[in-house]
Amino acid sequence: MPAINQSACGKAILLGEHAVVHGEGAIAIPLSSRRIKVRVEPKILTPDSKIQVIAPDLGINQEYTDLPEQHPVFQAVRLTLIELNITQTPSCTLLVTSTLSFGSGLGSSAALAVATIRALSEFLGHPLPTNTVNRIAYECETYIHGNPSGIDNTVVSNEKPLYFQKSQGFEFLSAGRAFNFILADSGISKSTRESVASVAGQLAESPIEVQSKLTQIGQVVEQGKQAFLNGDIMGLAAAMNQNQQLLTAIDLSCPELDQLIKTALEAGALAAKLTGGGRGGHMLALVEDSKLPLVYESLQQASSGRAFTTTVGNQS
Ligand code: MEV
Repeated sequence: MPAINQSACGKAILLGEHAVVHGEGAIAIPLSSRRIKVRVEPKILTPDSKIQVIAPDLGINQEYTDLPEQHPVFQAVRLTLIELNITQTPSCTLLVTSTLSFGSGLGSSAALAVATIRALSEFLGHPLPTNTVNRIAYECETYIHGNPSGIDNTVVSNEKPLYFQKSQGFEFLSAGRAFNFILADSGISKSTRESVASVAGQLAESPIEVQSKLTQIGQVVEQGKQAFLNGDIMGLAAAMNQNQQLLTAIDLSCPELDQLIKTALEAGALAAKLTGGGRGGHMLALVEDSKLPLVYESLQQASSGRAFTTTVGNQS
């Protein structure tokens, strides 16, 4: 068995995070330049029917069965072996490296699951098709996030911009023009499981008020979707800014994200919002070509060098 290399991209939620868990639509974009790589190597000289997981960025060097049940690699390996009806654990090493930061709202758990499922299934001689990879990665996400909508695993496994709704599935979106985004890390790592549970708690406590915010987010997503398809940058910016106000109203922002958003807007971004689980993680700003250098420089300073750009549309 030769060594196998596979990878999966990160993602950013453009519009609709959290509301998507409660049935509204949302839009996500892939971050193709930020990836998690998984290399599977056979233990040729010392076969032991064990899978050793080595992930230096995560401080992991142990057998996969010793990983916590909520770890994406544990679930991805376990579920891939079940999918392929493999009862004898193969003797191999699974090496994880990454250019995507972990636990910062960019879909690292979905990317880790997708890259692991792809690499291991190919190593075992049965590379799984994207829809199967997506289904298994969703199951992994249920162990990690508790109640995931399914948008993260869907955009990561398909690596294309898409509109997602729990009851309807997804549709790929073709941007009407090139849109530039800058992402900047607040430096705060927060659990998506906890922020999703917090929204569910608020919904149980104040159903009318919170449901109204989620419904409004759904409406903003529909407006943003049309703007995205039509290449209407001002329409998309308006949707992103309204989305941020609604997310703030359900307590999903935090002072560090608010500061990055202020920095982006003051430097000339058309819109800026949190992306993903919120209360930390990354901020996403929409920026016209002419303003890119200034906004990027300002966000680099404000995030201690943890900003990067991505483009969706023509050039992506
Ligand atoms: C996380 O990237 C997006 C959330 O909406 C959770 C989910 O959709 O599963 C916060």
